[in-house]
Amino acid sequence: MTRALKVFPSAAGLARGAANQIVTILRDARRAGAPSSLVLSGGSTPRAVYQLLATDEFRSRVEWLHLHLFWGDERCVPPTSPESNYRMVRETLLESVPVPAGHIHRIHGELPPAQAAIAYEDELRAVFGTERGALPRPDLVLLGLGEDGHTASLFPGTAVLQEERRLVADVYVDRLNASRVTLTFPVLNNARAVLFLVSGPSKAAALAAVLRNPASGSPASGLPASRLLPRDGDLFWYVDHDAAAQLSLSETL
Ligand code: 6PG
Repeated sequence: MTRALKVFPSAAGLARGAANQIVTILRDARRAGAPSSLVLSGGSTPRAVYQLLATDEFRSRVEWLHLHLFWGDERCVPPTSPESNYRMVRETLLESVPVPAGHIHRIHGELPPAQAAIAYEDELRAVFGTERGALPRPDLVLLGLGEDGHTASLFPGTAVLQEERRLVADVYVDRLNASRVTLTFPVLNNARAVLFLVSGPSKAAALAAVLRNPASGSPASGLPASRLLPRDGDLFWYVDHDAAAQLSLSETL
C-alpha cells in the first residue's frame, strides 16, 4: 500500500501531476480486462484536472469506453445548475471524451435528498454487483479538501460521519444552509486508490491539521478528511506549494 504526499510548485503543476497519476491508475486497473471506475469530486482544483484530461495530450491515454464514472458528492440542485458537480464535469470533460452515456452515474441532485441517496446507493450496488453487507470497490476516488477539513460532503459535526452501514447519505449542512448527498466513509475507504487534490493558500491550515492529526480510529476524532485512510488501497495527497505552506519538510504520511 502506498501512502504518498507530493508537493508541486504550482497549481498547474499539480493538475498535470494528478492527470498523469489518474491515467496510470486507470491503466493499471484495466490490466485485468474489466471496466475501470472513477469517482469524481467537485471543487475548483479537480476542475483544472478535468480540463487537462480533456486535452489532446491526455485524451488518448484513457480508455474512456471502458470507464464508469461516479460522483463522490452532489449539491441538491438540478443537473443544469451552475452549482451542480455533474454539470461541472459535463462541461469540462464529458463533452470532449467518449464515455458511454450508460457509464455516467450521476447523483440525482434534483430529487429530494433522502430519495437521491437511496437511488444512488441502489445504482452503486447494481453497477458494482455489490451484495447487501458488502462494499463496492472503486478503482480511484478523487477528493478535494475544504477549509474546514471536509471532504466530499463529509462536513465536521454532521451525523453522516458516524455512518457505518449506508453507502450514500443525505446531509444537511447548517453552514451552507443546504443539503448535499455524499458517499460515506465505508465506501470511500474501500477504494483501491484515493487521490486528494489540494491547492491554494486558503487550504494550508486545514491540510496541516489533517496530516498532523490523523484520526485515532474513533468516529468522533479528527477532521473528516483525516479519516480517509483506504483499508486496503493507496492514498495520495497531491498538493501545491501554497497549500503546503504550513507543512514541515519532515512531514510524512
Ligand atoms: C464540493 C466538493 C467538496 C470540495 C471541497 C474543496 O462539492 O464542493 O466535492 O468536497 O472538493 O470543498 O473544494 P475546492 O477545490 O473548490 O476548494
